[in-house]
Amino acid sequence: MTSHKSIRFIADTWNNYELIDSGDGSKLEQFSGYVLDRPEPGAVWPKALDYKKWDKADASFEPTGKKKGFWQNKSSIPQKWHLEYSSPEHSHLKLKFQLEMTNFKHVGVFPEQAANWEYIAGKIQEGERLLNLFAYTGGASLAAKSAGADVTHVDAIRQVIDWTRINMELSGLDGIRWVVEDALKFLKREVKRGNKYKAVVLDPPTWGLGPKHEKWKLDNHLEEIVELVAEVVEPGGFIVMNTYSGIPPTSLETLWRRVLPKAKLTSGELCLPGKDGHLLSTGSLIRIEL
Ligand SMILES: C[S@@+](CC[C@H](N)C(=O)[O-])C[C@H]1O[C@@H](n2cnc3c(N)ncnc32)[C@H](O)[C@@H]1O
Repeated sequence: MTSHKSIRFIADTWNNYELIDSGDGSKLEQFSGYVLDRPEPGAVWPKALDYKKWDKADASFEPTGKKKGFWQNKSSIPQKWHLEYSSPEHSHLKLKFQLEMTNFKHVGVFPEQAANWEYIAGKIQEGERLLNLFAYTGGASLAAKSAGADVTHVDAIRQVIDWTRINMELSGLDGIRWVVEDALKFLKREVKRGNKYKAVVLDPPTWGLGPKHEKWKLDNHLEEIVELVAEVVEPGGFIVMNTYSGIPPTSLETLWRRVLPKAKLTSGELCLPGKDGHLLSTGSLIRIEL
């Protein structure tokens, strides 16, 4: 009988980032000395710290709609600043990100992804090819590049790619291949060309737009993207898929098991450790080894 174990992948390797508190639909985080208060729908418990601590945040995000909003600065927090990540396990994995408070509440890094950077940096070998789809500001691309991999980074937004290029240079890396394209379109072309990768990383959003306004909707394209990814990964390779869209880890397993029945699947929740010991689950993750 197959054993099914749900795992918590915990990003507990940070020095310059901390989840100070969470609760009542918000999280209080410290990024390289600056404290931010922003919405977190997953924080369904009461805050542990009192409001005076939360009021000391350097900036807090005020939503004006479902996704958008603005930052209320409470101190002289700079427009842009840097955050360093240094792996305790892999000496080559030293990354530097430029942070900026965007009107989508994001700041240019998803700290919980450090659990994936560690996995990727420990698994990919020099010269092997890694494809990062829906790649945002490139944490996974940089982690793979730091190990000497041949990295292709795909995102629909040109400005996001420019931001990743800054992160690459700040991290002392170079040579990432940039692709500004709809992830699905690019993947279909790669299948047609017969191109193969040792690893594929993907973080498909609930909805999105390609650069030519191609509509990405997870519900409509999930099955197709899973099948295409399975085609471009070479035997002995691996896949890392995470999603913030609410698909449970068990459903991810069922989906991938259909397409890759012989692969080793490990799935669970991607979590941030809170200062007081509780975990904040940020989404679902599956690692697939062929
Ligand atoms: C949730 S973010 C991924 C975060 C990433 N895992 C990280 O660790 O930084 C989703 C990204 O998908 C991109 N995106 C949305 N629709 C897309 C599409 N159709 N093709 C390619 N990228 C797309 C967005 O621009 C965004 O950067």
